[in-house]
Amino acid sequence: MTTPSASEPVTLTMADGGTIELPVESATEGGAGLDISKLLARAGVVTFDPGFANTAPCRSAITYIDGEAGILRYRGYPIEALAHDASFSEVIHLLLFGELPTADQLAAFESDLRGHAAVPDEVLRLIESFPSSAHPMSMLSAAVSALAPYSKNAVAEPAPEQLAANAAELLGKLPTVAAAIHRHLTGQPIVAPDVSLDAVTDFLRMTFATSGAPFQPNPTVSKALDMLFVLHADHEQNCSTSTVRLVGSSQATLFASISAGIDALSGPLHGGANQAVIEMLETIRGQGGDVASFVRRVKEGHGDVRLMGFGHRVYKAYDPRATIVKQTATTVLEQLGKDDQLLDLAMQLEEVALSDDYFVSRHLYPNVDFYTGILYRAMGFPTDMFTVLFALGRAPGWIAHWIEMTHDPQTKIGRPRQIYSGHNAREFVPVSAR
Ligand code: MLT
Repeated sequence: MTTPSASEPVTLTMADGGTIELPVESATEGGAGLDISKLLARAGVVTFDPGFANTAPCRSAITYIDGEAGILRYRGYPIEALAHDASFSEVIHLLLFGELPTADQLAAFESDLRGHAAVPDEVLRLIESFPSSAHPMSMLSAAVSALAPYSKNAVAEPAPEQLAANAAELLGKLPTVAAAIHRHLTGQPIVAPDVSLDAVTDFLRMTFATSGAPFQPNPTVSKALDMLFVLHADHEQNCSTSTVRLVGSSQATLFASISAGIDALSGPLHGGANQAVIEMLETIRGQGGDVASFVRRVKEGHGDVRLMGFGHRVYKAYDPRATIVKQTATTVLEQLGKDDQLLDLAMQLEEVALSDDYFVSRHLYPNVDFYTGILYRAMGFPTDMFTVLFALGRAPGWIAHWIEMTHDPQTKIGRPRQIYSGHNAREFVPVSAR
């Protein structure tokens, strides 16, 4: 079978010699897709694809990734250009509405988001009701779910203006919620938003302000955090985005769908990986900083030692986001006058791994999670909060996908099939006779 092009259906020959024509869904860039949606009805078989590694459940015009070449673009714009020259607010606008805003549009959009920064007291009390041992991602998920009743736009089948209002409400409130979670975890009173500040600086103020002392914004930290949010803003059909789409496909509200996405992101194989990387680097440091011996143990493959932050389902090259984070980590640490042993260890680990055929032949290159934690640490965030920061960055991507899914006439409730591997029919025996 040759690579399908847009015009040629693919003929599938079954074991009995019968043939089925599979239409081809064309792509503007990258691989086309075989439309197997009628396969079950026509041939009585389903496709088997654990982890959906080879399944496109939708068309999407938001993000393009070429994993072989290490390319990432949002709405056609290279991630490098956006990270360097666009603010997070511009990128949110781009993802949600398809275009970068003009200066006037940007000012109106930012003011709309800031207008939603206040969070209902009941939701703040809910956050405070969690034990301080709780993981912040469970607080974030609960708080987002709890916001739904305060929005008159959180309805099944929302109109386009309700979708935009939902997006602004949620994106406007998320920094306040995330900062409140940090304060609760660190035993400090929650700080209210100050909408005269930009969202990222205000998030840092709400997170780190100490009572009695005026907050001194640090432009280096605000700029770096804004850029990290840009890098995290979307990554096509990753696990959490697919979760958001799947939950949303049942016409659950945006708040319910995003809450589910937060739960999906919390796992160590997804957003929780940035925390796991720091824990791994701390273990290496605690064991005397012997990177070569750590790499050796990873290769021995006993399963007790894992190389976190390396490898990616889609990238078979260096994750382009990791390149940017690595450069930024070095510059920001220098600018902040901080020296983090973990950055040195991370760089040594990368060097040792990338000069070893074991990792190169398996396409195990650093991914976005490898260096982000080092930056978050330098900014003063505790390890537990790293995944919350990922969620703040990813929220616009989730919402953009939710909106795209809602507008797509081909959207159906998500309902995969299975290959049944249980018992054949057997006779029921009452409990008295078992
Ligand atoms: C992400 O940014 O969501 C991660 O790199 C995971 C993925 O894309 O599968």
